[in-house]
Amino acid sequence: MNAKQIAGQQAASYVEDGMRIGLGTGSTAYWAIHAIADRVKQGLKIEAIPTSKGTEKLALELGIPLTDFSRVQNLDLTIDGADEVDAKLQLIKGGGGALFREKLVAAASDQLIIVVDETKEVDVLGAFHLPVEIAVFAWETTVRRISGIGCTPRLRQKAGQAYVTDNGNYILDCPFGSIMDPAGLSHQLDAIIGVVEHGLFVNMADRVVIGTSGGEARVREKGF
Ligand code: 5RP
Repeated sequence: MNAKQIAGQQAASYVEDGMRIGLGTGSTAYWAIHAIADRVKQGLKIEAIPTSKGTEKLALELGIPLTDFSRVQNLDLTIDGADEVDAKLQLIKGGGGALFREKLVAAASDQLIIVVDETKEVDVLGAFHLPVEIAVFAWETTVRRISGIGCTPRLRQKAGQAYVTDNGNYILDCPFGSIMDPAGLSHQLDAIIGVVEHGLFVNMADRVVIGTSGGEARVREKGF
């Protein structure tokens, strides 16, 4: 088993009968979704809300019952990946472009469990360029506003075209360098018109499950 699979499998064990859960996006969440689907096949009763069209497709293929926010108000638990995790369990997310739905789903969850391999642990966030989802209309003005707070954003591309999210928006990858004050930067970005959402998840994760190359899972919890 690789480190991502170990983390995903361990995190799936936190899911209990009757729960409503959020399903994350990415190559580590993928393993958690598979492990949850195995438990559903054995009789686990849950309903899930996916954080991307890709995850929705995977969940349907694996037979995980889905629901949506017209039918449920909140979720018991969400399991999702991350691009960086610091010592206070603050995160950079959005490498896979799903950060807006991921943040909405996480904010509606009583608990957020993050699954990563050990390469994602950092002392200070920011080596990974911060993904920021922006409106397509007047996107150039949003780039200029973000440039004004300390980085030169790059418009994410896919196959030579601007990458478009599941929500019809663009992503800017923003090299802020070391982010010494994630909460402060989060507020600055929240205040910029044109920004739909950004990949800083401050004080949202409750638990991080880290798969190691040694074949074990380590768990870090908020406040420890
Ligand atoms: C998608 C995300 C992913 O969770 C993040 O990029 C980690 O992905 P992976 O587990 O494939 O490294 O935030 O928007």
